[in-house]
Amino acid sequence: MKRVLSGLQPSGQLHIGNYAGAIRQFVDMQADHEMYVFVASYHALTSTRDANELRTNTRQVVIDYLAFGLDPATHPNTHIYLQQDVPQVTELAWLLSCVCPKHLMDKATSYKDKVARGLPASVGLYTYPILQAADILSVDPDLVPVGKDQVQHCEITRDLAQKFNHAFGEVFKLPNYKLRDDAQVLPGIDGQKMSKSYGNDIDPFMDEKPLRKRIMKIKTDSTPVEESKDPEACTVFQIYRGIAGRDDPRTLDLASRYRASGPEGMGYGHAKQALFELILDHFADARKRRTELMNDPAYIDKVLKDGAAAAQAKVTEVTARARMAVGL
Ligand code: ADP
Ligand code: TRP
Repeated sequence: MKRVLSGLQPSGQLHIGNYAGAIRQFVDMQADHEMYVFVASYHALTSTRDANELRTNTRQVVIDYLAFGLDPATHPNTHIYLQQDVPQVTELAWLLSCVCPKHLMDKATSYKDKVARGLPASVGLYTYPILQAADILSVDPDLVPVGKDQVQHCEITRDLAQKFNHAFGEVFKLPNYKLRDDAQVLPGIDGQKMSKSYGNDIDPFMDEKPLRKRIMKIKTDSTPVEESKDPEACTVFQIYRGIAGRDDPRTLDLASRYRASGPEGMGYGHAKQALFELILDHFADARKRRTELMNDPAYIDKVLKDGAAAAQAKVTEVTARARMAVGL
């Protein structure tokens, strides 16, 4: 069975972009992979200064992983854990940083993007990809499923593993990354990439009324109802397709309703209503599960305890190998 590692930063409530770009892949893979899915709490310290917020958000990501369908109870090979429960990754990050040429970090685009968005230009943010490489290499995964924005970090990981192995012998296994097949970035309600930090996200766990209101706010142009519309150019359609799937009959049907004209023409209000109904339908189980999970903290604790034990076992083995190789 192939081993998979991936994780998300705890930036609070997850949105349907995180689901479409990341979590859905994890859920799909758990049937026939050994999954190590973690919460990147150390990474979050590059942006947050509020301890209570970090604690709450970290917990929330675990609840959302489970709500969206990761299920260690029915898939004993699925391990969910917190980064701080395997602190050896910081040691591995140090070992990797000693073989990392500075120019490799200078080239990383996420640092520049994040500083441009207002994050403090800390050394932690600058070396963020090294800690990510340590997360990945720490469990010897075969595959790392990620969204497009994480590809550069995966390439840096392979690069660092190679440099380390070249200097000290074969310690790290070189993982491959896996992009979602129909890799696409979901736009937010303003048409830009959906992101928590742009305030344009859609939270699938909202109550129905505010959820509908949020969807009705999606920006559209002013093409009249009776005129034919290009579905590809519309944010509502792009989100719909991202959730339902490109070849789903509902997506194809919606596309043809966009193209219709005259008395058959469809207004954007109808497209938004269709999206609202799709989200309620697609996330019905997740919404129900999440309410149950919010009321069962003991179960969350157990998931994290088991996950930490599984990750610890692997990480300890890899760290011992690396220490031995460098002479510690
Ligand atoms: P945010 O931009 O909301 O802070 P993150 O950068 O923490 O989200 O992203 C976490 C994961 O979710 C990444 O793997 C990323 O690829 C995926 N992701 C985030 N936003 C989107 C989006 N709009 N569409 C597709 N995937 C996304
Ligand atoms: N950088 C990732 C993100 O922002 C989070 C992350 C940290 C990660 N370590 C990782 C993802 C290791 C995959 C593998 O989404």
